[in-house]
Amino acid sequence: MPITYLEKENIFEIRTAQSSYVFGINEKGTIQHLYWGDHIEASECGYLLVGRLHSSFDAEIDRETEEYGGWGGCNYAEPALKVSFADGVRDLRLGYKSYRIVSENEIVIRMADAYYPLFVDVHYKVLPAYDLIERYVQVHNGLNESVRIEQIMAAVWTVQALPDYRMTHVTGRWAGEYQLRSTVLSEGKKVLESRRGFTGPHANPWFAIDNGQADETSGRVWFGALGWSGNWKIVAEKTTFGHVRIVGGVNDFDSSFVLAPGEVYASPVFVGGFTSGGFGQMSRNLHQYQNDYVLPTSKLRKVLYNSWEATEFAVTVEGQKELAQQAARLGVERFVVDDGWFGERHSDRAGLGDWYVNAEKFPNGLEELIDHVKGLGMEFGLWVEPESVNPDSDLFRAHPEWVYQFPTREGTQLRNQLLLNLGLPEVKQFVLHFMTTLLTKYDIRFIKWDMNRTVTEPGTMASCQDADGSMWIKHVHHLYDIWSELRGRFPHVEFETCAGGGARIDLGILRYADQAWISDNTDARDRLSIQEGFSYAYSPSVMMCWVTESPHGFNGRSLPLSYRFHSAMMGGLGIGANISKWSTEELDEAKRYVELYKEIRPVILNGDLYRLSSLRDSNVAAYQYNSTERNESIVFTFLQSQHFGSEVRHLLLQDLVSHAAYAVTIDEGEPFVRHGSTLMNLGLAVSLRGDYKSLMIRIKRLD
Ligand code: GLA
Repeated sequence: MPITYLEKENIFEIRTAQSSYVFGINEKGTIQHLYWGDHIEASECGYLLVGRLHSSFDAEIDRETEEYGGWGGCNYAEPALKVSFADGVRDLRLGYKSYRIVSENEIVIRMADAYYPLFVDVHYKVLPAYDLIERYVQVHNGLNESVRIEQIMAAVWTVQALPDYRMTHVTGRWAGEYQLRSTVLSEGKKVLESRRGFTGPHANPWFAIDNGQADETSGRVWFGALGWSGNWKIVAEKTTFGHVRIVGGVNDFDSSFVLAPGEVYASPVFVGGFTSGGFGQMSRNLHQYQNDYVLPTSKLRKVLYNSWEATEFAVTVEGQKELAQQAARLGVERFVVDDGWFGERHSDRAGLGDWYVNAEKFPNGLEELIDHVKGLGMEFGLWVEPESVNPDSDLFRAHPEWVYQFPTREGTQLRNQLLLNLGLPEVKQFVLHFMTTLLTKYDIRFIKWDMNRTVTEPGTMASCQDADGSMWIKHVHHLYDIWSELRGRFPHVEFETCAGGGARIDLGILRYADQAWISDNTDARDRLSIQEGFSYAYSPSVMMCWVTESPHGFNGRSLPLSYRFHSAMMGGLGIGANISKWSTEELDEAKRYVELYKEIRPVILNGDLYRLSSLRDSNVAAYQYNSTERNESIVFTFLQSQHFGSEVRHLLLQDLVSHAAYAVTIDEGEPFVRHGSTLMNLGLAVSLRGDYKSLMIRIKRLD
């Protein structure tokens, strides 16, 4: 049983394959966090359940390790919940009320205010095999009056005193997302957040904490990821008593809302985990959790072609048909027309919002292209950006009142567009309706759903506050509703989340999206660091990567086709180059890679990823993917630049079967035999020479 209540000690234990998570109720009725880490005997924690008053200047120490604390009394820590009651009282005293075992893997702890009938249900859902616990809260307003919610976080995670704390997270910007950073946590707060209306490229709602010494293969790591695609906040607070608490949820910034009598608000899910197997094991646990539990389906990513970099807005039926012809020759399975197919969309200045097929570009309708694509044995996909509108569009001319705006301000235009207030029921209906029409009328099997700007001028309070939450919250709920509705109506359609590249990827949208476009930067070298950062939290099974032109339009860098393919084969493979212009040799080479990719795809997308070496601290990057049965491995390795003559490097492979013999094939070389023990301890000798060289290695178990 993963969840136990020890009545004598008044302690709850959540036990996963490798971890114990313990909290209890102290004599004051406070729910106190006691322990999170490698297995222990929970019954021996009872002595920790005592309040320890330090001085009149310090909050009681037990309050600082509360499982879920409200702002009130002498609790000065970052609050999980802050409310104002209708009578003007702004003080919350949450205490233990009861517990309910929902199932073998789920427990709900009910807390209540000491005076008002305001109830907080703290949910814990255990995923024992992945060493993860999903947490979220529901707040019930049992008063006869409304309650204003000023801050409501999904969970508080406590890491007990370590000698040092290091926090690892990602940062970035458009075309440079998912860059890893780590920082020492000293007393005070480190805040990761988005206030831009979506998850954002500047930070991502994932964190990891260790003592500064964990590495890829060893060390204790506490980590978590929040499932929310709007404004979010994760605060890591180190107290002067040496604890670190990580509080996360929907950002309270500009987001207070009113809970009417009888209403219930549910927070998003904040999943947390512990491993003593280093950052590599942390990532593998998160990947398998996503693959098995979060993602809407377990389908393998199709090899896609996307026309954006080839044509941008200059979409024509002839041009697309030609690209489709070439794509089919390469073995592509899904042909996607990007921006530029609809309305008067000849540049980014007009047309967004007018979701009808442009008759000049498609004189015989979209069917002509769809039939052509299907005739070539591929399925058809389409780009949309439903939340946005150009002022130069029929939609905006008809409904200027549908955009986020303030009456005395001119709306800020970003990429010449404004954002629709998706929180309005009529806007939600409009989006659902036009998407339904598109997906009903045409045989579309894939939608790339984009959002190319942040939220500004979010509207007056009167227009955005009610029981559904603030407008920031409502936008996201309505987005999720639409995706969920569309998935229900069109189960054969797959969806990609995109926001100017990777600005809306989190465990919230991944409950609805099959795959994610992680960056508009498709330079294969830059991609290595973007993909690596992405892989800390997110699974290769959703990570879309395209092979594009060389020299690359973004930075002028020339890279061999092999390097571009190797980099893009590490997730879901796509091709985004102008393949109408490729030579026969290039096309033949590309075709071979697509064939190869299809063979190794299950290992890449469903297997276990091991980051062997990184360009962050080495001249060589290497990534190993193991099939779940450990009978097959794929390794990609990349040389940045050779220094001082030729060098043979030994890649120390991971998690093979020591006594098993494996056939090793380096690129197109002759296979040779090595044992697991040799490959893991002596390593695999590889020779990489020159600049920007790469190799793919296949390892297959023989017995
Ligand atoms: C965004 C996407 C790109 C492309 C363009 C089209 O930037 O990330 O992949 O779809 O929009 O306008």
